[in-house]
Amino acid sequence: MDIKIRTAEPLEVATPCLVVGIFEKEMASRKLEALSRLLGEEAGSLIDAGEFSGKARETLLLYLGGKASCRRALLVGLGKREEASPEKLRQGMGTAVALLKEKRIDSPAVDFASFCHDAATVRETAAALTEGLILADYRFFRYLTEKAEEFPVPLREAVFCVAGGISGKEVEAGVDLARKVCAGVVLARDLVNEPGNVKSPAYLADRARQVAEEAGLRCIVLEKAELLREGMGALLGVAQGSSREPCLIVVEYAGAGRREAPVVLIGKGVVFDSGGISLKPAENMDTMKMDMAGAAAVLGTLLAAAALRIPQRLVGIIPAVENLPSGTAIRPGDILTSLSGKTIEVLNTDAEGRLILADALAYAKRFQPACVIDLATLTGACVVSLGHQAAAILGSDQELIGKLIACGEKSGDRLWQLPLWDDYCELVKSDVADVKNSAGRAAGTITGAAFLKKFAPETPWAHIDIAGTAWEEKGRPCCPKGGTGFGVRLLIDFLRSLGG
Ligand code: BES
Ligand code: MN
Ligand code: ZN
Repeated sequence: MDIKIRTAEPLEVATPCLVVGIFEKEMASRKLEALSRLLGEEAGSLIDAGEFSGKARETLLLYLGGKASCRRALLVGLGKREEASPEKLRQGMGTAVALLKEKRIDSPAVDFASFCHDAATVRETAAALTEGLILADYRFFRYLTEKAEEFPVPLREAVFCVAGGISGKEVEAGVDLARKVCAGVVLARDLVNEPGNVKSPAYLADRARQVAEEAGLRCIVLEKAELLREGMGALLGVAQGSSREPCLIVVEYAGAGRREAPVVLIGKGVVFDSGGISLKPAENMDTMKMDMAGAAAVLGTLLAAAALRIPQRLVGIIPAVENLPSGTAIRPGDILTSLSGKTIEVLNTDAEGRLILADALAYAKRFQPACVIDLATLTGACVVSLGHQAAAILGSDQELIGKLIACGEKSGDRLWQLPLWDDYCELVKSDVADVKNSAGRAAGTITGAAFLKKFAPETPWAHIDIAGTAWEEKGRPCCPKGGTGFGVRLLIDFLRSLGG
């Protein structure tokens, strides 16, 4: 989608539809005078009838019948002005986009000033609106051959009409920032939505190489032979049930030179998780193609970070495997020797994410990282505790966790902390090996993190369990069904907050 910025009075712009943001109960305010004049008594009666009050996500499509240069005005509710936030703006714009797509209006204009409020700068407002536009417009239709015409149209362009002393340069800066971040989110969504038959570990490696080529990053892929040589027994153990070979993908962005201690981002890359010999139930197993959403978020973040020239050194590490049952698969009771030298008793082959992350965390130490953040669709228990509204965060360093939580609030990729007391670490001890990969149902998200802690470097480390937030079941204003791209906006916000 092309996003243009024009200095113009919104109501004087020739457009099929002008999108106007309205805060709750401000329908009658001075700002809307021009619009009310156009609509005359009509508008008054609609408001009196309670048809539109500006509550979050309310919409009202008005046909202006030749009274203005714009043919239609789409009013979208933003909720109370005192409660305004970037997320509310995103959602407001996302709601408008859904309606536009349905009506097949593909080139709207936006009354920029109507979305402005005191709690956000012009740049932040422009970024939030751009995110709303792009993320709500996103669809995964690569494999649709028949339904194309019934499909909601993609937006072709959107024009931000900026008037009344608002700096066009600032709007431009916000649009540019959000566009680059959204390219990362879109990449992550595409990767998650790609079906398992296409998405082998080798496919992930190919896409990583492509992204690296495009964005000027370094990419190396450790193939199976190298993984064997290195001694990544935990990762290889998970992979051995599938005929598709595993790999470890390493992507590096040297925004601050190669000597700087990097921020290491690790993403779980299980391209399909059947559970292995500890097979999952058939129902909804199809969604387990999303078990590489952590990997997708890491790649999306690297793409966006490079486009934004973030002044940090970043290393992305993606262990990529498939978890299938077969005659060569690992079995419950097997003991694996991980890269760290620690031995792991595999009690449940469906707790495979922590096995591959164990080797990735040990591998991360070579980069002498400033900090390590891993993202993983790790536990069903996370969905039970936090649902689809927030990801769980746990780790070894409260300062890092606190920063990430704050960035989550701002970016909309929300996080909620769970405790990681030593008592929980007791629970993953094994009778026959150094650690076991499953501690049963109780506190599943925490014991998953407690397992990872045994392999995490001494440096500040945070683990983000995105099992509930990586996949959208129903469709929300800024996120259609499927992969959400959760984590990209969070991590970019975090990296930008580090300065440099
Ligand atoms: N990939 C799953 C976790 C998951 C569940 C992600 C639902 C997204 C939605 C993970 O590999 C898994 O199967 N975890 C097990 C761990 C258990 C066996 C200790 C789980 O949560 O049941
Ligand atoms: Mn599993
Ligand atoms: Zn899994």
